[in-house]
Amino acid sequence: MAKTAPAPNPPRDAFNQPNASFDNRLRPVKFGDFVGQEKVRERLLLSVEAARQRGEPLDHILLSGPPGLGKTTLCYILAEEMGVKVHATSGPVVEKPSDLAGMLTSLDRGDILFIDEIHRMQTAVEEYLYSAMEDYVLDIMIDQGPNARSIRLELPHFTLVGATTRQGLLSAPLRSRFTIRARLDYYRPEELAQIVTRSARLLEVGIDDGGAMEIARRSRGTARIANNLLRRVRDYAQVRAGNHIDEAVADKALEMEGIDRAGLDEMDKRILSCICETFGGGPVGLGTVAVSVGEEAGTIEDVYEPYLIQEGYIARTPRGREATPQAFRALGLHPAARGGQQTLGI
Ligand SMILES: Nc1ncnc2c1ncn2[C@@H]1O[C@H](COP(=O)(O)OP(=O)(O)OP(=O)(O)O)[C@@H](O)[C@H]1O
Ligand SMILES: [Mg+2]
Repeated sequence: MAKTAPAPNPPRDAFNQPNASFDNRLRPVKFGDFVGQEKVRERLLLSVEAARQRGEPLDHILLSGPPGLGKTTLCYILAEEMGVKVHATSGPVVEKPSDLAGMLTSLDRGDILFIDEIHRMQTAVEEYLYSAMEDYVLDIMIDQGPNARSIRLELPHFTLVGATTRQGLLSAPLRSRFTIRARLDYYRPEELAQIVTRSARLLEVGIDDGGAMEIARRSRGTARIANNLLRRVRDYAQVRAGNHIDEAVADKALEMEGIDRAGLDEMDKRILSCICETFGGGPVGLGTVAVSVGEEAGTIEDVYEPYLIQEGYIARTPRGREATPQAFRALGLHPAARGGQQTLGI
């Protein structure tokens, strides 16, 4: 059956770019160091505990949520806590069923197969996963034409951990085979401040509560952005402030970097400006916003909107998206400008 083309990677602000060596250095390796996401953490801890008691592998787990919130981190924590290995790959990389077969047959019992961006996997490959996940077998066709025959490979009892920024793009059969599904949410500033304080300790730079909070407030609810901003502030602190970060140092450094006081990124601002300026505050349909900012509607809905809604910049109404007075203020506009553009003499 035809499936829509896989969605491209969500574009990210420069400060939400993964940086492998930096990410790894700051990545918590135990649940104890993983800040926030209490509900998700508690559920996963419980599953780990139960699986360990029974001496069985973990059930399959789907982690979803916007970029930089800790999906990959959680997968490695699960492996560490279970004492198993992670074999990592990503949806678009697994091109053929034979690629999948190669990976699955190299697993040991209990190992985790981590498939990042699992929503971007080809349908033909995805279908093989169904029996692998459910019955731990893989039926592979070999040869073609009259010689074609199917052979059955027995697989070790493994755990599939899938990560996705676009849960809505996952097919129902695949989604339903994950018995544990957890959605990560944006972090509160106090949680991000804790993450920043821990990272500063690892990076050996001094920081006080005011400094950590200033970075946290400007991190768009995202752990990776908080760490990346800390890196920028650390450079400034090292050269200009005796290697110590307080509120004023953080503010100066982030201002130099052009980081918005509220932490909004380029795409956030384009979305707000589209609704506030082009459409006079709305309501305006998601499809229209998508075309005018040049981004896929689904990405706006799953990656950008949740933060803008949570922070009270926009509201989702039955007639479309509406900007709040706070959105106008964030763009340096007066909320009274609402509706002004629509009355342009046409
Ligand atoms: N709860 C947390 N506590 C401490 N640090 C965290 C937490 N969550 C994420 N981080 C930090 O943020 C960085 C990014 O997290 P991670 O790579 O797990 O995000 P992701 O959800 O997999 O993002 P993507 O969708 O881009 O792959 C990690 O290197 C880690 O240092
Ligand atoms: Mg990741």
